[in-house]
Amino acid sequence: MQGKRILLIVAGGIAAYKTPELVRLIRKAGASVTTVLTSGGAQFVTPLTLSALSNAPCHSELFDLTREAEMGHIELSRSADLIVVAPATADLMAKMAHGLADDLASTLLMATDTPVLIAPAMNVRMWDHPATRRNRAILADDDIDMVGPDEGGMACGEWGEGRMAEPEAIMQAMGELLGPPAPALTDASAPLRLPPESVIIPPAPRRLAGRHVIVTSGPTHEPIDPVRYIANRSSGTQGTAIAAALRDMGARVTFVTGPATSPPPSGVDVVRVETARQMHEAVQAALPADAAVMAAAVADWHVTNAADRKVKKDGSGAPSLQMAENPDILAWISRAAQRPRLVVGFAAETDDVVANATAKRSRKGCDWILANDVSPETGIMGGDENAITMVTESGAEAWPRMTKVKVARRLADRIADALQDGAR
Ligand code: C5P
Repeated sequence: MQGKRILLIVAGGIAAYKTPELVRLIRKAGASVTTVLTSGGAQFVTPLTLSALSNAPCHSELFDLTREAEMGHIELSRSADLIVVAPATADLMAKMAHGLADDLASTLLMATDTPVLIAPAMNVRMWDHPATRRNRAILADDDIDMVGPDEGGMACGEWGEGRMAEPEAIMQAMGELLGPPAPALTDASAPLRLPPESVIIPPAPRRLAGRHVIVTSGPTHEPIDPVRYIANRSSGTQGTAIAAALRDMGARVTFVTGPATSPPPSGVDVVRVETARQMHEAVQAALPADAAVMAAAVADWHVTNAADRKVKKDGSGAPSLQMAENPDILAWISRAAQRPRLVVGFAAETDDVVANATAKRSRKGCDWILANDVSPETGIMGGDENAITMVTESGAEAWPRMTKVKVARRLADRIADALQDGAR
């Protein structure tokens, strides 16, 4: 972290008592830190503590004219290498998710394109509340990185998930996001300031500009009658993250999604389908494409004697369902006349992950299989994390467990490499 510039936003939660220690660790690691304190945060830690430990003024007011003249809030956020929000309260996360900007902290977070890492801290019920869950999904889709929260006892006497990650864990997450040290452009001990034009680093080239990628995502629903259907537990989280990552790299994305719980990303062409047969038709219609990522959990069968009207329970016993196999979209596209140059499939396995994925790769005829262990104890199905083994022509490569957003970014990078090299 040597020479890096961190903007640390401290929101109002009891976990703010750990933030001065975080400031100390950041400086010890050779980075500079500028602090922003919300009015809630100021109930738990004082501006004096933060400015003394960071050796820089602690900012709190949006309309501080003296400081606006000296350094506007836009520059404050943009001249940082990383923005860290610790603790991130339910309230601030909600503001971030919905684009509210009514104080300095939330305005900075809206005005920046700098990577943001949040360390949530809140009561376990607040963390589990459907509103917070929705906001977490939005923030993940917006590429906001998250560390923690941990499980444990809370200041309010309850036990559960919601404790802010320890400062050491936040430091580690920051290190991972910042990557290798950059040459020092500014004095690390000095407060943030906008670098002169000559040292502004240009944005990364959009490596998938001009490419078309089809992504399938979510479960399919196979009707039994107008109100009942056969489905699976797929949430669509991984497929949605992949579509967003490809979009961010400049690709035109056709996102063919079954009825998933996670909302589709913005900026992609969304085709909503219900059944596997509709998904197959939508994929056919989306061709030609440079690459296809089949991340949907497609139902294997559909009911051939689905009823037009609701089947009544009339005491004569359960109806008997007849089923037929669904089209295998991945196998089909891998052998299609208009086959994309790169075809990627997923394999959700509960045992013998590598062996099964390797066999699946040749059976389906795709280039890569991203395999994951979805046994219930992994919490991967419907969760925010994934542990991938990537199977290609040249063997199996185990990726460390990481968020689905990071899996998506890594995959998008690999797709860009492959399309660039003409390799698979
Ligand atoms: O269900 P299965 O293990 O065969 O899924 C492996 C891969 O095949 C996944 O990428 C999935 O999206 C794809 N698939 C498909 N059409 C099917 C079944 C699976 O595209 N009917």
